[in-house]
This record gives sequence, C-alpha cells and structure tokens, in this order.
Amino acid sequence: MSAINSLKTQTCVAFAPASLSNLGPGFDSLGVALSIWYDQVHITLTPGLAYTVGFDPSGEWKGPTDPHKNTASVSALHVAQTLGYTGGATIHIKKGIRAGSGLGSSAASAVAGAMAMNGALGSPLTKSDLIDACMEGESIVSGARHGDNVIPSLMGGTMLVESGNPAFHQRIDSMMDVHFAVILPDVEVLTQQARALLPASVTLKDASVWASRLSQLILAMSNADVSLFGKLVMKDDLIEPIRATLLSPYSAIKEAALKRGAKGCALSGSGPAMFAVCSSSAEASAIAESMKNACAEFGISSLTAVERINARGAYTQ
Ligand code: HSE
Repeated sequence: MSAINSLKTQTCVAFAPASLSNLGPGFDSLGVALSIWYDQVHITLTPGLAYTVGFDPSGEWKGPTDPHKNTASVSALHVAQTLGYTGGATIHIKKGIRAGSGLGSSAASAVAGAMAMNGALGSPLTKSDLIDACMEGESIVSGARHGDNVIPSLMGGTMLVESGNPAFHQRIDSMMDVHFAVILPDVEVLTQQARALLPASVTLKDASVWASRLSQLILAMSNADVSLFGKLVMKDDLIEPIRATLLSPYSAIKEAALKRGAKGCALSGSGPAMFAVCSSSAEASAIAESMKNACAEFGISSLTAVERINARGAYTQ
C-alpha cells in the first residue's frame, strides 16, 4: 500500500472566496478575489472506497450530492487521482455563495474541494499544481474552461488569466485603494445559459477596441487610479448589453450607484451580481444601500456587501 493510501482519517477544511470576474472589458480573462463571501469544504478521508457529498443546512445553497456532478467533489477526486489516493472520503460543503450568482460560486467550491483534498492528504501539492483539478470542477457547471474566477479564488488578488489556458496567469500588483459595493439580486442566472447568448465571433474592429480598453483598464489598476478604473469597467459594449437583458433592474441599479457617487458599475461575470467601484468604505455602504433600494423597486430582494480585494485567496485550516 502506498504511503498516501495508508493515511487513515485525515481531515481538512478549506475556504475559498467569491470573486468578481470580467470587470467590464476583461471577459474570461480578469478576476478579483473578494473578502467577505466564502465557500467552505470539509473533507475527511474514510477507509472504504466511497465518496459521499453533503451540504451544511445553514449554507446559502445546496447542490448535487452525486460526487461526479458536484464541483467540489469533482476537483477533490481529481486531486486524489493525481496523488494516487484510492480510498474514500466524506465531503461536507457549506456554501457561502449562492450558485448562479456571477460571483464565482462554482469556482469557489471547486477551489475549496481541491484545497481540502490536498490538505487531507498532507498538502503535497502547491496551489499552482491544483489549477487543473479546480478547472475540472468548475467546468462541470460553466461548460467552459475559463479561469477568471478559479485563479483569483485560488491565488487571491487581481488576476489576469489567459482564457482557455488558465495555467498562464499573472497577478496585477496594485496599490489601488478600492472598495466594491456588491449587490446580489435574488434572481438566478446560470453561467452556461448566459454564455449561450453570446456571439460566436466578433469583428476585427471590435476586437481591437476591446484589446485597447482591457489594456487601459489594467494600466489604471496598476497606476492605482480608482476613477479611471471605474470608468473603464463600464466600457464593455459587446457582452454586458446582451446579459443585462437577463436582469430587469440592471439599468436602475447602475443609475442609482452612479447617482450616489460610484466611479463605475458593471455586472460581475454572467450576473446577476453587480459591483460598483467606490473609493471608501462609507461611500460603498451608502452606494450599496441605494443599489438595494433600486432593485427593491422591481420587487426583487437582494444581498449586498462592501468588499475589498482579498490578497490571500483560498486557505486551509
Ligand atoms: N467569465 C465568465 C463569463 C464568468 O462571463 O461567462 C462567469 O461568471
């Protein structure tokens, strides 16, 4: 029996944060880890061969309990296979982030699943070694291997990711003192469906404008220019206008945020979550409240939070 299989009842709990993705013109390539909302996965190795998946009743959401259909267990199984572990495990998930939110819920579960399994097996792998396993879990739900939620959730900070090849990523080091007012309206938008609405190709002219906007956005972050960053997150006129149709209060929420002083406001990922760019915590609290009120005018309740950039990313205990 290999050393890894002689481990008996090792246990590990991992936490992985929610993330904002796209940030305007960074479709599938730009994401930032958030500070408040987390998914938690607790793995205990068991002597049999079976994997069982359960959800904490106090979590924000419950999901599939088939180990081959759940993002956390799929990534955990991938890690086990990589390490040659052939035993079983119980996987207990506490969702802090609702699925279909646009806040990287499936990515956070996949990341926490991979981290917890690696931890239970003695942490032989680095975070970079876990990327494939995380992408495997994430792609079950999103239907694509974009890493703009997985990489920031795993690594922390603001990450630029090559779409389709997330192993190639770079951290955007920025001293930018930004606060995000984040709203999660009580509307479900499934990433796979929101992706199906998008055009399969764009013109060369659109691609070139897009590239220049993304470059300027990255420069604004590097220069810690919150105002310019805010303006540029509103410069996606290819993807966001299509997805905005899935959220009836989209324009009202954006207008309320800008009127209250936000530097910019956009959808996160495929939505329905939206974020406003703010320069202080007090400003962000007031802006979050006006976004919530605008959403409520449409009869839609919501969760809000004031979030910062989370430099740490996923961790185990
Ligand atoms: N970049 C992905 C998308 C994120 O926009 O579809 C999914 O939340």
